[in-house]
Amino acid sequence: MHCSDVAIRHGRRTVVSGIDLSLEDGMSAAITGRSGSGKSSLLSAILGMVPIASGTIEVDGKGVHSLRGAHRREYLRHTVSVVFQHGELLEELEPVENVAIAAILAGSPRRAAFQEAEELLEDLGVPARGVSTQVLSGGEHQRVAVARALITRPSLVLADEPTGSLDAEFREMVGDLVLSIPKRWGSSVLIVTHDDALARRADAAFSLVPDHNGVAHLEPAP
Ligand SMILES: Nc1ncnc2c1ncn2[C@@H]1O[C@H](COP(=O)(O)OP(=O)(O)O)[C@@H](O)[C@H]1O
Ligand SMILES: [Mg+2]
Repeated sequence: MHCSDVAIRHGRRTVVSGIDLSLEDGMSAAITGRSGSGKSSLLSAILGMVPIASGTIEVDGKGVHSLRGAHRREYLRHTVSVVFQHGELLEELEPVENVAIAAILAGSPRRAAFQEAEELLEDLGVPARGVSTQVLSGGEHQRVAVARALITRPSLVLADEPTGSLDAEFREMVGDLVLSIPKRWGSSVLIVTHDDALARRADAAFSLVPDHNGVAHLEPAP
């Protein structure tokens, strides 16, 4: 993933500018920054969900903002995936259904999707069946969200405050899991987080720092 001189505007306000960021395959990077500094906006831009006012964002050699139609669907289904702060899971479903659904939406046959979902959840130590997702602990819940992000074998996983809603006892475990994705599953990982201790464990760490006009720039983490 390569961001080159990226600026993002919401309406007339420039939120981030001059963002240069390269994340090589199989590596992890973390971005910290205070609330409102533009972390989620940057992830949404890498997803292609937010337009960029200047610059380019390339994933697997393709400009995200020039993808159209089937290429854009392919990007969202197979190339990139997201882990959100609150997991964004369907609470009434079983964990295995939450994970399999991502593969089914990406075109996998139902049986294969369920089998792979079950294997991933077993690997991550989360009950797959017989419980609804809402009864899981916070740590288990986020592990299901990680499994859902991994089942499509994306080349890039984006994680937006993946430990932000967890108690201390689960924070480190889920943080370590997200940072282990490159070695265990081969996807590169970009985390945005408030958690400096988590950011320091990534291969590279950066901060989004607003200037006196409130426009944030990327700097190496202190
Ligand atoms: N869709 C939007 N429309 C207008 N302003 C937005 C939108 N999304 C975010 N913002 C504003 O952009 C700034 C950065 O937001 P965000 O990227 O969510 O920061 P962070 O994730 O670091 O807290 C904030 O001031 C926020 O209010
Ligand atoms: Mg945010």
